[in-house]
Amino acid sequence: MGNIVSDSGNKSVGIAIDSVTHRFGPGQLTLDNVSLNVEPGEFVAIVGPSGCGKTTLLNLVAGLLPTQEGTITLANEQPRPGHPLVGYMLARDALFGWRTVRRNVELGAEIRGQDEALREIRAVELIRQVGLAGYEDAYPKALSHGMRQRAALARTFCLDVAVLLMDEPFGALDAQTKLQLEDLLLDLWTRERRTVLFVTHDLNEALVLADRVVVMGRNPGTIRLVVQVTLPRPREARMLQSDPHFHDLSATIWRELEGGMGPWLDR
Ligand SMILES: Nc1ncnc2c1ncn2[C@@H]1O[C@H](COP(=O)(O)OP(=O)(O)OP(=O)(O)O)[C@@H](O)[C@H]1O
Ligand SMILES: [Mg+2]
Repeated sequence: MGNIVSDSGNKSVGIAIDSVTHRFGPGQLTLDNVSLNVEPGEFVAIVGPSGCGKTTLLNLVAGLLPTQEGTITLANEQPRPGHPLVGYMLARDALFGWRTVRRNVELGAEIRGQDEALREIRAVELIRQVGLAGYEDAYPKALSHGMRQRAALARTFCLDVAVLLMDEPFGALDAQTKLQLEDLLLDLWTRERRTVLFVTHDLNEALVLADRVVVMGRNPGTIRLVVQVTLPRPREARMLQSDPHFHDLSATIWRELEGGMGPWLDR
């Protein structure tokens, strides 16, 4: 697929976050001295309690918030909104109701001025890969929530970008659809190794997907632990759950999350 119509896999862009501190107001220290290097083509998941600054960190990398202290570098540049090498996918990623599935999938690529014929070929191929073949000309209202998130995933991958920022993209889905989409994401990512920074509340999801899991704590938001996920690839969401090493890694992270951080989920 992609390598014919996309060269983003070869762009090899990492993310360097160095000593980043962020305040939303005087005395409101949201991120405190956060440093993280994401290697080109690496999949890094961030977990941590609600309010620890995960979305803030992604927004800083996306250039949607200005960096106040410290530095963030992507492809030798500072972040900026609409950076041609960066795509962002959210938990409830809205599709436009007046565009068909195909034209929604093409949207980001269209906005970025990518070649029309190529983006159409690519969109149709991605729609097939996310299991929506036959729905190319359907409108979002005819799709279930899970199908819409599939379309949003296809749209994210249709972008010819080297870096994907994903903020709980499967957070609002039922358990089974979530497992399917995790496998789908792994499949797409394996074909075109993009650099991914993926926020989730779901530790199992983080361990299934990522090369490394970053555990954050809050008040203020800091990185408490970085765990190398030494589970072999290719991985499959359902199979890993019976792997003892998976449970060892999970126990290590849970200990860190519970250690002096207050409730893990309190919203
Ligand atoms: N625009 C804003 N203005 C003021 N405070 C903000 C703003 N955005 C976030 N915050 C605060 O910064 C802190 C971190 O918020 P953020 O959304 O980054 O957390 P999060 O880790 O993504 O949480 P969740 O898991 O609930 O999504 C919170 O205390 C939040 O209230
Ligand atoms: Mg968030």
